[in-house]
Amino acid sequence: MFEAKMPKGFLWGGAVAAHQVEGAWNVDGKGPSVADVMTAGANGVPRKITDGVLKGENYPNHEAIDFYHHYKEDIKLMAEMGFKCFRTSIAWTRIFPNGDDAEPNEAGLKFYDDLFDECHKYGIEPVITLHHFEMPWHLVKKYGGWQSRKTIDFFTRYARVVFKRYQHKVKYWMTFNEIDNQSAFNNAFLMATNSGILFKKGQNREAAMYQAAHYELVASALAVKIAHQINPKMKIGCMVNFASVYPATCDPDDTLLAQRVAQRRYWFSDVHVNGVYPKEVEAYLKQKGYRPDITAEDRQILREGTVDYVGFSYYESMTVSAKKVDADHLTDLDAAVVDNKYLPKTQWDWSIDPEGLRYALNWLTDRYHKPLFIVENGMGARDKVEADGSIHDDYRIKYLQSHISEMEKAVALDGVDLMGYTPWGCIDLVSAGTGQMSKRYGFIYVDKDDQGNGTLKRSRKDSFYWYKNVIKSNGADL
Ligand code: BG6
Repeated sequence: MFEAKMPKGFLWGGAVAAHQVEGAWNVDGKGPSVADVMTAGANGVPRKITDGVLKGENYPNHEAIDFYHHYKEDIKLMAEMGFKCFRTSIAWTRIFPNGDDAEPNEAGLKFYDDLFDECHKYGIEPVITLHHFEMPWHLVKKYGGWQSRKTIDFFTRYARVVFKRYQHKVKYWMTFNEIDNQSAFNNAFLMATNSGILFKKGQNREAAMYQAAHYELVASALAVKIAHQINPKMKIGCMVNFASVYPATCDPDDTLLAQRVAQRRYWFSDVHVNGVYPKEVEAYLKQKGYRPDITAEDRQILREGTVDYVGFSYYESMTVSAKKVDADHLTDLDAAVVDNKYLPKTQWDWSIDPEGLRYALNWLTDRYHKPLFIVENGMGARDKVEADGSIHDDYRIKYLQSHISEMEKAVALDGVDLMGYTPWGCIDLVSAGTGQMSKRYGFIYVDKDDQGNGTLKRSRKDSFYWYKNVIKSNGADL
């Protein structure tokens, strides 16, 4: 029916984030980040954000999988799978330990130099996120995170330093990871990880979110401008957590609600791509009586700093029903969500919807007319190590197979301009949401459990060999 092959130069690879793999949380001058004060949770048990690093608490990101000391071995395994690219983030606190320091930390800069060199040794292109849930803890405490306009200056100072330093080693960048997670502003954990906000009692959470997000969008636009000035060859993208939004039925009330949920969730990328606030969000802010600090100069910066491509994660779709809340009374998006009886679920209750990925690729193409990059996709699952050390993760292969197949249809049949595909957690890592190691995504197994026990030994799962073949055949052999 169609040629199931990706275009030449397609960036097959895998994705992680610094705080979920590196460990070495206080090594070589690194300062603490918000990820370093996040305790271990479990499925349904939220992680706590403690007031600094406290004795007697378990902080899984402190060691993670110790990628900081194992990166050579890990990149070699990725090269064995044939990776064309590797997505990770820079830990801001390795470069500016407190966030507001005047000078960068040379040891932190050197680490990423070495890491990027190691990638290039195998022809692997690094794809780098600047801000992936690892804001300096000092900025959270002293400035209230992204609630302060000053944070824009600290972030752009950091961005300028790393763009200059790595301009010949890193071509593809993204500014804020899943900036739209904070549309769930009632979720204190997400607000802390996304925006470094620790709510005060009685604070209007929604208003705080709109203010912080605005400063982030301005900072992102400035970063795009700075990068293009330093080296126009660098491509800077945004990154959103894309959940295709479905109406629960064909009742027009459900359809209107689905559209409204999408507007409230995707205005972040609208601003990133179009450089202007969408009308619906401006109208909503007025209705609510919120007056975020948005200056004429900010609006100019937003117009000038639009992104080169749209990076997004895709895990699941969301289905909404007007029986729960109607479009005109929507504030908390989660309050509109219902189960979708057509979709199975993972062990962590995330719905599995491969066709939703094709829908997402078409939806984003129609809305933005920009190249797209799937920078996260995958399924957290428990793995069993057999007596001979093998790991038969056919469930993971099945999940990825079905998603890649829909991705290929979107490219071959629907004309989507797709840069690459980097499944999440290509090596097992600490889950962002639960802090567990047992919620595994990797092709590469890491011997470590939720209590922090294990040798950290790396081994190849069945999916390792399967993905190697997918890349080798450029997607033809699933
Ligand atoms: C995305 C994040 O939200 O989903 C990652 O960008 C995260 O950091 C991934 O790890 C999967 O979520 P979780 O909670 O299973 O780790």
